[in-house]
Amino acid sequence: MDRSGIEAVKARINISDVVRRYVDLKPVSGRWMGACPFHQETKPSMSVNDEEGFFYCFGCQASGDVIDFYGRINGLEFREALEQLAAEAGIELEHVPHDPHAAERKARKQLLIDMHNEANSWFQRNLSVAAGDHCRKYLADRGMTREMIGKFGLGYSPEDWHGLDNFLKTRGRTPEQGVEAGLLSRNAKGDIYDRFRGRLIFPIQNLSGRVIAFGGRVITDGEPKYLNSSDTPIYKKGEHLYGLNLARSTMTRTKRAILTEGYMDVISLHQFGYTDSCGVLGTALTPDQVKRLAGFVSRVDLIFDGDGAGRKAAMKSARMILLQGVACRVVLMPEGEDVDSLLQSQGAEGLDACMNEAPDGLVFCMNTLNADYAPRDIMAWAKSFLSDLSDASLRAYYLPRLVNGLGLSEADFRREAGAMAPPRNTQQQPQQAQTPSRPQKVPVGKDDKDDRYFLRFPIQYPDYVPALAERGFERILRTDWAKAIWEKLANTQPGQITSLLNDQEKSFYYRCREELRANVLSGRELLREWNYLCNKISSEQRIKDEKQLTEAIRQAQQSGDTKRALELLALKESRRRDDEQY
Ligand code: UTP
Ligand code: MN
Repeated sequence: MDRSGIEAVKARINISDVVRRYVDLKPVSGRWMGACPFHQETKPSMSVNDEEGFFYCFGCQASGDVIDFYGRINGLEFREALEQLAAEAGIELEHVPHDPHAAERKARKQLLIDMHNEANSWFQRNLSVAAGDHCRKYLADRGMTREMIGKFGLGYSPEDWHGLDNFLKTRGRTPEQGVEAGLLSRNAKGDIYDRFRGRLIFPIQNLSGRVIAFGGRVITDGEPKYLNSSDTPIYKKGEHLYGLNLARSTMTRTKRAILTEGYMDVISLHQFGYTDSCGVLGTALTPDQVKRLAGFVSRVDLIFDGDGAGRKAAMKSARMILLQGVACRVVLMPEGEDVDSLLQSQGAEGLDACMNEAPDGLVFCMNTLNADYAPRDIMAWAKSFLSDLSDASLRAYYLPRLVNGLGLSEADFRREAGAMAPPRNTQQQPQQAQTPSRPQKVPVGKDDKDDRYFLRFPIQYPDYVPALAERGFERILRTDWAKAIWEKLANTQPGQITSLLNDQEKSFYYRCREELRANVLSGRELLREWNYLCNKISSEQRIKDEKQLTEAIRQAQQSGDTKRALELLALKESRRRDDEQY
């Protein structure tokens, strides 16, 4: 990771300036407060600190620096968010060092992006001129509005073997480059020609809004009905979701994604107001796609045909989503309809009726299992579902629901599933958040509570970190999460710590910094707190020493070395007297 780039972005961009693009901020006693965009709330629970460059929500504990905020609200990966902000601030990022091909690869990708951009405007122009009459009529007949045509950037590829080919030449592109971009095709004889001909064109955009591939639908008869770009260095089928870039801002608000199969389905959903919809693009749903969504939604509404094939696909997709710890519902379409035809004929009311009847994903799976599966297949499904869960707490969540829904006894099932892999996460460590961008609260318990209290001091008063480290501060910490934060605090320059913290740690860290504002200790209070911690450390040390001494006495007695045992006993006594005086 480009640390100096990160620091430069944070130094150059005021976090409140970025947050204000999405949230109304009001000054409240020397800081900014606003409604948190990451959970359902209208009260201003999010604090934004320009001085230290972080945000923290008292409601949902979302927190981070300007790059975290920007990435999260726009559904971007960290790197992508960093790049966009760096570009805004005019900061040159270092690119992956020691890779001699990196620059070349980047240039190649840029070329492909540029060519897609050129092709896209050419397709769009064709839709607006006489050659596109036919296609515009097709769209109108299907009830698609101009607004949606513009929003999704639809285009038309004329019935021409060399239309795009020639256009790209005017832009200085060679036919070979067109083939590499997947925009042109080459037959066995080596002739190069337009891949998309006589088709309605759907540009596929990445999260940054760049066109990276196309889908094309025949508007007269022909095969295949939809032709899609093949994989290129800028597009991998199964990684992207159609319309996600347009849906992500609604999704971060509604925390829901509607997922459907077809291009037209996605567009109709947006047209009828379901602007948190996207499409899987002609493949089965992939774990990559689910991970993308899991970053900013907590529920997925899956839309599938009501027939056998649809139910089977729904079951697979629901399973994949549940495994990520994201909730889902399965919305089945009436016979012979897809969501586009349903909306066009019955409007949002028709779809809402189906949604109201939609079962929860796990319930749907269990109902389908109970109805259509043999007992041994039900058991196999349940076992594999549980063992595919990587998170022990999710396993604990699903197990009782599953055994209930399938009419099994939990004890029998546990015994039966004995061969199941043990939970991978057995340490007494806080669970990693399932979705990296959604920080969880620090766990509660006496040790956790104590450790939170102890750690607050070095976080709020970092000047004391070296002195605490010297005295052995780590001794008073009981939990692994606290020890991990302390280790980072003790071994990092102040000011660099946040780039090393994971989401959960950051949330805790920023909360402490935020609380500091409300309550800065006076000189005397600070001293009292300092003494308290030092006493705590030395009493912890005494307890440890005493334990060692007791153990040594026991060993001496056991080996019959009475003299040594008595000496040690005397030592223990004298220490106790010292302690009492102390
Ligand atoms: P459908 O055949 O259900 O079509 O394919 P559709 O989406 O309802 O399209 P319209 O309403 O007839 O225009 C569902 C999706 O599967 C992919 C496309 O993404 C399509 O939207 N598909 C389908 C292909 O990739 N290739 C095909 O030949 C057919
Ligand atoms: Mn359709």
